[in-house]
Amino acid sequence: MIIAIDGPAASGKGTLARRLAAHFGLRYLDTGLTYRAVADELLRCGEPLDDEPAAVRAVARVDFANMNRAHLAGHRIGEAASQIAVMPALRTALVDHQRGFAETPPGAVLDGRDIGTVVCPAAPVKLFVTATPEARARRRADEMASRGEPGHYDEVLADLRRRDARDTGRSVAPLAQAPDAVLLDTTELDIDAAFRAAVDIVRQALRAKGGQNGGLSTAT
Ligand code: C5P
Repeated sequence: MIIAIDGPAASGKGTLARRLAAHFGLRYLDTGLTYRAVADELLRCGEPLDDEPAAVRAVARVDFANMNRAHLAGHRIGEAASQIAVMPALRTALVDHQRGFAETPPGAVLDGRDIGTVVCPAAPVKLFVTATPEARARRRADEMASRGEPGHYDEVLADLRRRDARDTGRSVAPLAQAPDAVLLDTTELDIDAAFRAAVDIVRQALRAKGGQNGGLSTAT
């Protein structure tokens, strides 16, 4: 059982994916962290961010089972991740790892930019989670403020727009809604309302596929 969740930065997809995984008793992978972990390894070794063979070699040195979310969440690493994510050979290496994770029983929720289109195109449930750039920038700036980090709304908004343009405009595996993904716009929803909507979407998708609940248990 695989639930594929895609969407732009700060759309709320990560929180939804984590809660859906707990709710349905599935494992969870934030694929953005895999790009961040490779970017972090390149920065740590002082290697350039446009050297594709170096990036592919770095994949072998990363321990994907023990990625440090707090460390990898930083802005510099996020920017570097978005830069290296345009490299096809790196993507192939990471996608292999992500598919292996998804296909390990009992299944998983994966979130990213290309899960429904490239990583798990046969996933029975696909969500595309989005919100206006302004709503996403407000959430991201509030999050940063709560961690005591400087994060001015205007800069955060400009940064998100730049990241969106890079993620949707690249030629390999761009951020895109799969034709069979259900759109969930969280602009006007708080996280609990978004979660309830996501659970309904999962249940409806599974019913439409003909199963009772697709073999899913409900943990909460
Ligand atoms: O989701 P997050 O902001 O952590 O992702 C960091 C960067 O990794 C994104 O800006 C995007 O360029 C890249 N990424 C990707 N494909 C994914 C997940 C993330 O290209 N499946």
